Amino acid sequence: MVTLVVGASGQVGSEVVRQLVEQGRPVRALVRPDAAAAHLRAYGDVEVVAGDLLQPSDVHRAVAGSEHIVATANSVIPRKRGEFGRVEREGYPALIAAARDAGVERFVFLSTTAFPHDDRIPGQQHKRFVERVLATSGIEYAVVRPAAFMESWLALPGSSLPLRGEVAPTLSRDFWFTRAFRKATGHLTEGRGMLTVSGSPDVRLSFIAIRDVAALLLAAAVHPAARNRILEVGGPEALSWQEVATIYGRILGRDVKVSASSPKLFAALRTVLTPLSPAAGNIMALQAGVANDMVIPPDVAAELGVGPLLRVAEFLEQKAALPADR
Ligand SMILES: NC(=O)c1ccc[n+]([C@@H]2O[C@H](COP(=O)([O-])OP(=O)(O)OC[C@H]3O[C@@H](n4cnc5c(N)ncnc54)[C@H](OP(=O)(O)O)[C@@H]3O)[C@@H](O)[C@H]2O)c1
Repeated sequence: MVTLVVGASGQVGSEVVRQLVEQGRPVRALVRPDAAAAHLRAYGDVEVVAGDLLQPSDVHRAVAGSEHIVATANSVIPRKRGEFGRVEREGYPALIAAARDAGVERFVFLSTTAFPHDDRIPGQQHKRFVERVLATSGIEYAVVRPAAFMESWLALPGSSLPLRGEVAPTLSRDFWFTRAFRKATGHLTEGRGMLTVSGSPDVRLSFIAIRDVAALLLAAAVHPAARNRILEVGGPEALSWQEVATIYGRILGRDVKVSASSPKLFAALRTVLTPLSPAAGNIMALQAGVANDMVIPPDVAAELGVGPLLRVAEFLEQKAALPADR
């Protein structure tokens, strides 16, 4: 029986599809008709189904005959105007109901770990909404709440290294705000030896690689211990920005210094940006949120048999060995 991946054209969904193909398991990838999906077909035997979660007939067609669903679709970095929050508020309830009615065995949802002031961050509230819909739907589920992705949070401070070799990087999605942000800051680390962060150089985050997040989602789809649970999971170590700068410095062969901005700056930018673009305002709210430690143990990974988890130094060394393509 087939695993349906919803959000398959995205960064995590693409890796979930790749791992399913590698394991020789049948995979159906739901992608919007105008999304890039050639890389999914190139992985091998992938049934690519065109569809939009906001179209009920697409949802029913995709769900029919699926044994498990791994859903990573989200609107944090929307490709289209007016999309922020819609897939979570309208698409997921329809998908979850269709999955329950079709007898899907387990529904796995990629969520996020809790931030301080979660209740005031709209993107976080979208996640909690989907979690509540799932928990009350009657379907068997697992919610995976990972800590900070290496591919995003090691790049946002000013580096392009974490994006090397990525087939569908979230930070390269067609959204005006992240495009402008990356243009202004994307090479500060390699070019000027700067890591621009929120809070202080001592803030610690449990960075986790998307390779490991995808493996966790797949384990959560089948492992008995994941049934009807919310699984908070971090990477193998919680590093401070100062420690990350030291690793960058060694790999780049230059001094790398941390430049920390007050979370008040991001909070102010959020206020200015939200009326213009709620999604851009949300990104600033997340930046303000990561001014606090996000230390989450990796225990769930061990419990589900996933590991060894990639460390930041290994991740950046692997990236540095690849050609600079972006
Ligand atoms: N970054 C972090 O550190 C971090 C940490 C913890 C959790 N998370 C969470 O992990 C998720 C990130 O996943 P990701 O990186 O794979 O996201 P992504 O690269 O931004 O991909 C988003 C996916 O959702 C799809 N999608 C959006 N609207 C859709 C719709 N109406 N119908 C069907 N598909 C739709 C997109 O399709 P198109 O390609 O057609 O737009 C795309 O495939 C987010 O929910 C984020 O909050 C992130």
